[in-house]
Amino acid sequence: MQFLRKPDWALPEREATPESIFLDRRRFLMGALGVVAGGIGGTAFAGAAEKTSEAPLDRTLDLYPAKRNPEFTLDRPLTKESVAATYNNFYEFGPVKTIYWLAQRLKTRPWQVRVEGLVRKPRVFDIDDLIRSMPLEERLYRFRCVEAWAMAVPWTGFPLSALIKVVEPKSEARFVKLTTFLDRTVAIGQLRFWLPWPYTEGLTMEEAMNELTLLATGIYGKPLPKQHGAPVRLVVPWKYGFKNIKSIVSIEFVKDRPKTFWEILGPDEYGFWANVNPEFAHPRWSQASERMIGTEERRPTQIFNGYGKWVASLYPNLKNRKFFV
Ligand code: MTE
Repeated sequence: MQFLRKPDWALPEREATPESIFLDRRRFLMGALGVVAGGIGGTAFAGAAEKTSEAPLDRTLDLYPAKRNPEFTLDRPLTKESVAATYNNFYEFGPVKTIYWLAQRLKTRPWQVRVEGLVRKPRVFDIDDLIRSMPLEERLYRFRCVEAWAMAVPWTGFPLSALIKVVEPKSEARFVKLTTFLDRTVAIGQLRFWLPWPYTEGLTMEEAMNELTLLATGIYGKPLPKQHGAPVRLVVPWKYGFKNIKSIVSIEFVKDRPKTFWEILGPDEYGFWANVNPEFAHPRWSQASERMIGTEERRPTQIFNGYGKWVASLYPNLKNRKFFV
């Protein structure tokens, strides 16, 4: 994804880290990490749990693979695991698709998720306690990026609604704001400090409570690899991919609609609602069809990515462009 203009508050380029210095830092880091990555090789990153000696263990490994929920079926073959694991958007680690090995820098244990804001029972969860207390299941979902590539993958996770019930939102809570970690020592993309880090996303309470909305902790029957947003990320399959925020540290219940990372950068291109619709073109490309990664097959885009049965009632005015940007 690209942004055409910087927001008004952005620093002029000359005051920001010059791209050449940024790139040099990047080359240095890549060189250092390349030694590590080269030794591990290929698809080892897919599904790899934390392996460094001092890192605490992932205490959820025995929960995978979780039982598949038969309600969610696919109309296309699953994307190959190695393809999905090496073609990612995770701007914290850089603006290209091949960040999978840079993302291995992220330490995903210990990890806490704060659930806070307009709730009766705010909590700070240790990630393993949270996962173990939730009903894990596997779901086959289509996934559609706003850039018009698509995949079909088996997520493991639990409905966000199950967590929401635990914290008991107050009646004033109308939106949920989700936030990713912020750590510039780990995520070199966050050195591009003119971007509005940390990455944030948001849903209405109705969207958050929808049966389709998952907090994913795994994929392909294993815990999430880091590049897919370990240890926990959002999955909303009827919306464009950028809504599916990764590596979440906070879930906050709020009264007003939050401004999200991409909405700040490009409100006419990557807005808050971002429901998939073939009829409403992105300002710079058509959304009528999508490209399956791995096979390069082209398929027609479906309204709500084919999930209208579950979500169409949330958006009664299908002619209103704002819901589809
Ligand atoms: N979450 C964070 N924190 N940072 C990101 O850059 N990219 C988004 C979304 N979640 C992103 C993110 C975009 S644009 C897409 S398409 C999906 O993650 C990609 O998910 P995947 O790499 O697991 O396929």
